[in-house]
Amino acid sequence: MSSFSALWTQFFPPRNGAPLTESNLPSQAGRVFIVTGGSSGLGFELTRILYHAGGKVYVLTRSKEHAEDAFTRIQSSQSKRRENAPEQDATNTQGSLEFIHMDLTDFTTIKTAACEFLEREGPDGRLDVLFNNAGTGAVKDAPPTRQGLEYHFAVNSLGPYLLTQLLIPILSSTVRKSPQDSVRVVWPASCLVDLGSPKTGIRKEFLQNTESVKDQNELYSTSKTATWFVASEFARRQANTGIVQIAGNPGNYITNIWRSTSRLLYYVLWPILRDPVHGAETYLWMGFSQSVTMDDAVAGRYAICDGRWHPGQREDLLLALRSVEEGGSGRAAEYFDWCAEKVRDFLQ
Ligand SMILES: NC(=O)c1ccc[n+]([C@@H]2O[C@H](COP(=O)([O-])OP(=O)(O)OC[C@H]3O[C@@H](n4cnc5c(N)ncnc54)[C@H](OP(=O)(O)O)[C@@H]3O)[C@@H](O)[C@H]2O)c1
Repeated sequence: MSSFSALWTQFFPPRNGAPLTESNLPSQAGRVFIVTGGSSGLGFELTRILYHAGGKVYVLTRSKEHAEDAFTRIQSSQSKRRENAPEQDATNTQGSLEFIHMDLTDFTTIKTAACEFLEREGPDGRLDVLFNNAGTGAVKDAPPTRQGLEYHFAVNSLGPYLLTQLLIPILSSTVRKSPQDSVRVVWPASCLVDLGSPKTGIRKEFLQNTESVKDQNELYSTSKTATWFVASEFARRQANTGIVQIAGNPGNYITNIWRSTSRLLYYVLWPILRDPVHGAETYLWMGFSQSVTMDDAVAGRYAICDGRWHPGQREDLLLALRSVEEGGSGRAAEYFDWCAEKVRDFLQ
């Protein structure tokens, strides 16, 4: 088990402890980002910060209406950079915002969205950081997706896995024209990785038959553990590409993620939920901090709010990251291969 202190610090992180914030993020002018689900919650705050830092931000999400509303709010918002940067600071240039439709419950739209992105960027295009932010909370009796897949896994893990695979070529070509370890993929997990996932993170029976698990809270927790397994496996298997893939718990926030959860649970948790800007600050650390390196990614290190490493994950989860030959359970590798099989038709 994770220690009590490891959990406590994820619910009550040090005040003003974020190493990277809107105020001190270096200029992102000339860099290109994808924020999935950038119309709400953590993704909205992240998109707003990147826009004011001069980045070109593509928001891939399911609702054009929500994205357009978010863009209007972002474009009319005041940058906190101006309050802190001198008048002549060239970093005060705004970036740009682009919407591309993508619904993670339908893999055909993921492929179309990736193609649309590549077309808009053109042959000399780039992708500096892919933030696989979009996700669902626990949904009771969620229906299977268009491709007949389990809902939580499709939205939180398989869909983002497919999107990432489709974008590996442009991420790799961006690595060749960028500083070392600066091209990244960021994966949000949850405190429920520590608290709610079964032994070894994902049950073997689930991979054999996804209908063997019915409880929506386990499905949510496990689909989040899956993001960590995927990030770690990508980093280990594709270290030669130079793409740093990092997963971690962004923290606990007041956002729309709770709309599918029981009102009672929401009100019980409400006192400890924070402003989602701190979740975006966690993403900034995972996406931009120079203290996050390829060695960390290959080692499967796991970030926590508001920009720190987890002080000590559960032993069974750490063993899942290691192969049987290395003394582990090999569950992360097994899951990665399972994902490859599930999305195979969309990678051709
Ligand atoms: N809030 C927390 O306490 C917390 C804690 C741990 C982890 N996280 C993780 O942080 C990430 C962001 O969550 P949030 O709290 O900011 O939630 P949110 O406010 O509900 O935002 C989620 C975003 O994802 C989009 N989205 C949802 N389902 C989608 C689908 N099928 N296809 C495409 N886009 C979809 C939503 O689009 P719509 O606008 O159309 O709904 C929205 O833009 C999630 O991965 C979540 O699991 C959140």
